Formats: sequence, structure tokens, C-alpha cells
Amino acid sequence: MSSSNENKIPLITPYKMGNFHLSHRVVLAPLTRQRSYGNVPQPHAALYYSQRATKGGLLIAEATGVSDTAQGYTDTPGIWTKEHVEAWKPIVDAVHAKGGIFFCQIWHVGRVSNYGFQPNGQAPISSTDKALSPAEAFSPPHRLTTEEIPKIVNDFRIASRNAIEAGFDGVEIHGAHGYLLDQFLKDRINDRTDIYGRTLENRCRFPLEVVEAVVNEIGADRVGIRLSPFANYMESGDSNPEALGLYMAESLNKYGILYCHMIEPRMKLLGEKFETPHSLLPMRKAFKGTFIVVGGYTREDGNKAIADDYADLVAYGRWFLANPDLPKRFELDAPLNKYNRETFYVSDPVVGYVDYPFLESSTAVSKYPIRM
Ligand SMILES: Cc1cc2nc3c(=O)[nH]c(=O)nc-3n(C[C@H](O)[C@H](O)[C@H](O)COP(=O)(O)O)c2cc1C
Repeated sequence: MSSSNENKIPLITPYKMGNFHLSHRVVLAPLTRQRSYGNVPQPHAALYYSQRATKGGLLIAEATGVSDTAQGYTDTPGIWTKEHVEAWKPIVDAVHAKGGIFFCQIWHVGRVSNYGFQPNGQAPISSTDKALSPAEAFSPPHRLTTEEIPKIVNDFRIASRNAIEAGFDGVEIHGAHGYLLDQFLKDRINDRTDIYGRTLENRCRFPLEVVEAVVNEIGADRVGIRLSPFANYMESGDSNPEALGLYMAESLNKYGILYCHMIEPRMKLLGEKFETPHSLLPMRKAFKGTFIVVGGYTREDGNKAIADDYADLVAYGRWFLANPDLPKRFELDAPLNKYNRETFYVSDPVVGYVDYPFLESSTAVSKYPIRM
């Protein structure tokens, strides 16, 4: 391996993110794996995350529910009970033992849910009362009243405090992919007539209230947010995504948060790349903190994004899922394991989870030294 930075590829150069000293720019994107039985994080997650941890590498944990109304998928983790906090601790410790920096993605699905996931079989909550399709999967949501919104803001605040108690270095507020915050941001969903609807400023109000509450609870230097202004997942399009992204980037500056993590416009749908004339550059320029990009990145265009100062960090989802030692493989330009979609979300604690092989390292080779 090269010893000086001059010989290093842009992705493998150090970066100072607030108080965190990162040794490289390759970030583990948040990846839902549905192996947290009964919403409780499991011991196998300690192995999974520690496999992907490097000294000075940033990992973002999978989407983690902020309350008992936040769930919409089987066996996704929570962080609203004492039991959840205790269960996260050894997982966070395992990452820290490797020198990794670990953020928890805090999440509420909103209407991407059904009665079966909700306490007492009640309706999921949202900005709207319009149901997602298909009806067999998603129940019609209850439109949050203006008065009910502070309670949900408070759930995020408490979840952020719990994450810090569990030992996480910070939180990433999940404002992307058609989930609750995005259901307020996007004009294709938000049909409200109160102070949380109608105008761009009003649509951004609830997500910004969440940011403010979390910042007040744990400090701006431990808060990031994920946004996908261009994406259409879960029927979440917007008529002017660039204006939305820019307005959010500028508003976030007022809170001085650590990072903004944006999904590339080419990722309109999960896991599919589209040609697009759009770019995140205006948002990158507007936002004053660390800018993380994600979506369809390879080693080559990740290097280019860093070299061109298009982003500070690049997050990798599927490649990191399948390559626990992805930063090392990028550094060495080694071949990558292919990912297997079939096992992304199966509940097995091993298969498709902790069994992706590491590159044969030089120490493995030296087990069979040449005899002199
Ligand atoms: C199995 C899987 C689970 C995902 N779970 C989450 C999640 O919990 N939170 C989130 O914000 N994005 C999630 N995503 C999106 C990824 O973080 C990432 O943005 C996406 O995979 C595009 O990056 P990639 O092309 O490097 O995979 C998930 C993607 C996959 C494939």
C-alpha cells in the first residue's frame, strides 16, 4: 500500500468532518437488513457492522424507528425503548473497537405502513390521508393534525438522545425516500392547508422542526440529514426538486448541522440508474457543512466526485453490503464481490449478511510462508 497521500486515490484521503477525523471518504450507506427480530437489534449486527468498520471510517446504521408508530417493515430496529438502547450498545462498541465512527439513521415511515405494524391496529400517520398503493400493502393514513405534530417532533428528539446514550457518535435524520419527513416535503404527497402545507417554506417546516429539536438535544455537530429531492420512491415526487433541495440546503445552514447526505437524481427508483440532466452541484455549493453523495457510485466516479470537489464523502450501499472491506478494495483496485439481491432482506443472521468474503489479505497469504 502507498504510504504518502500523493499516491492515494481521492477516495482514500483523510477528511475532517466537524470534530471527526476521517481517514478516507468511503461511507457505509444506511441499509435496512430486517434482521432485528421484534425491532430489537441483535448480536449478529455487531459482527456485520464491525466487519465494515475501519479506523476513521464513517458508518451509517440502517433506518431505525423513533417510536412504535414508526414501523412499516418486519424486524427493522428501533431506538425508542430502554431495551433497544441496551441492545445497540454492544453493536456500537464493536464498531468503536475498530476505530469506526458510527451514526444512527433515525426514521419514521409515515404512511409506508399498515394497520398490522401499528399499535392497537390504528392507522399509520402522514401529512396526508391519501393512501399509498397497493391497498393490500398500505392502509389509509391518518392525517396528522397541526396540534399532533409537536409530539412526533419530540419522538425524534428522544430517539436522538437514546442514540447518544447507546454510544452512537451522532444521528442521521431520515428525510428521504418517501417516508414521513419526505411526505411533508414533497408536493405530490403533501396536500395540507395548514402551516405545514401549500408553500415550499411550509412543506419544509416539519422536517426543519425535527432538525431543530434534535440539534437542541444533542448538538449540531452530531447531526446529519438524508434527503432525496429528486427521487420518486413511494409516490413521493416533487414538481420542483431543485428548488426544494436548495431551500433545504440553505435552511439547514441556519442550524449548522454536520452533514447533508443527498441521493443522486439518477436514483429516481431504488436500485436503478437513470440518465438525468440534473446534478446535486447547486445543493453542494449552497450547503456549508460536509456534503455526502450516494447512488450508483463506482470506484471511478466516486474518485472523480472527490477530485472535482463535487462532494466531501461518497456513500456506498450495495457494494459495501457485499464487500465488508470495500475501502481496502478501492485502495488496492481489487475486484469486488457481487451482491445478491435475494438475501438483502431475508431474516437469516448469517446468509447474505456476515458471509460475504474479505479480500485475501497479505496476512492470510503469509500463513503459508515460502521456506528458505
Ligand atoms: C438493501 C437495501 C437497504 C436500504 N436501506 C436503506 C435505509 O435503511 N435507509 C436509507 O436511507 N436508504 C436505504 N437504502 C438506500 C441506500 O442507502 C442507497 O442510497 C442506495 O442503495 C443507492 O446506493 P448504491 O447505488 O451505492 O447501492 C437501502 C438500499 C438497499 C439496497
